[in-house]
Amino acid sequence: MRLFVLFILMSIFSVSYGKNIKLRDLPKELSNYYPPKSEKMEFVELMHTLSVSITGVVSNIKEGDWQNAEKWAKRLQENYLKIGKMVKKWDKLLKKEDMEKLVNAVKSKDKAGSMEFVQNISKSCVQCHKNYQLSAKIKFHSPNFNKTQIEDPVSGLEYSIEDYMKAMTNDMKMMRIHLIDGQKNKARKSGFNFIKRFEGMTQMCKDCHTTKKDEEIYFGIEANKRITALREAVANGELIQIKKQLKWISQNNCSKCHNVHQTLYLLKERFGSK
Ligand code: HEC
Ligand code: HEC
Ligand code: HEC
Repeated sequence: MRLFVLFILMSIFSVSYGKNIKLRDLPKELSNYYPPKSEKMEFVELMHTLSVSITGVVSNIKEGDWQNAEKWAKRLQENYLKIGKMVKKWDKLLKKEDMEKLVNAVKSKDKAGSMEFVQNISKSCVQCHKNYQLSAKIKFHSPNFNKTQIEDPVSGLEYSIEDYMKAMTNDMKMMRIHLIDGQKNKARKSGFNFIKRFEGMTQMCKDCHTTKKDEEIYFGIEANKRITALREAVANGELIQIKKQLKWISQNNCSKCHNVHQTLYLLKERFGSK
């Protein structure tokens, strides 16, 4: 009974404090400026140009260099308007009038006026980022594992990454369970299957990574040493050694790789199924 009350309390707690992340859908047109449609990252490049331009305006206004301030204000305007040309749906989010007023205020060397319009324009940058930047990060910059297939070294079959991870995790658990149950041969079999699958994971890295360096972060010298020690412990049925090596592997291989890849995978999956 007490447990039940605790459970209810915990649910209320988590409901009242839970926050839903809202991931807004992005306009379809935006995809034209990202792989696979374009490798040039035109939209991100435009953003960097805007960022440089707005700093160019502000720093020159502060210095009282009105000639250069005007040059940067015009550059800012030209690029700011490009947002609406590249992504039609976003045209209405732009503060075009304030942009025009900024150019004029700079032309008439009006410091207070210029700064006010810079502020207004900056607000439109911040507002759009609040609404869409996270969605863009997930949609265009996070790994897509949907197409990743990986040959299972135990069965020889092609597995999805999900099935592969599940099979490997099962080996990891079963080698311990069999050992605790005193079934040494079965434990050995699960242990060796785990090691094969662990080593087999590196097949997929080159789907997305072009250098070996990334691979070595999770599958480097230390990981190799641990696998060698694990292999010996599995052969000899040494539970304490097995646990010790698995703990290291969990913390330094599985968890670290999950922090980088699985978190993004889960976000992307949630976004995709919306
Ligand atoms: C590439 C780096 C990488 C490494 C190294 C890695 N994983 Fe994963 N793992 C992933 C990704 C990506 C997913 C998300 C895919 C999915 O859930 O289908 C995942 C998902 C999982 C899942 C959830 C599967 C499900 O039901 O959806 C388990 C369990 C798992 N991994 C176990 C492990 C274990 C155990 C290890 C270490 C021995 C490990 N992983 C090492 C990338 C990795
Ligand atoms: C109508 C929407 C919109 C407006 C307005 C907008 N941006 Fe962005 N901006 C984005 C989106 C979407 C991203 C995320 C792009 C990505 O990560 O691929 C972004 C990202 C950025 C980035 C980060 C780029 C990176 O490499 O991650 C900078 C810097 C930036 N914007 C500057 C600006 C400035 C300065 C302004 C205003 C003068 C502005 N943006 C106005 C939509 C907008
Ligand atoms: C489906 C694509 C995909 C696969 C498969 C994949 N990665 Fe990644 N990985 C990424 C992306 C995307 C990033 C984020 C950085 C970037 O954009 O390059 C990343 C980041 C990393 C990082 C962080 C350092 C860096 O380069 O930014 C490491 C380390 C890494 N991956 C290792 C691995 C290893 C090891 C494997 C194989 C077991 C693997 N990855 C498999 C897509 C992938």
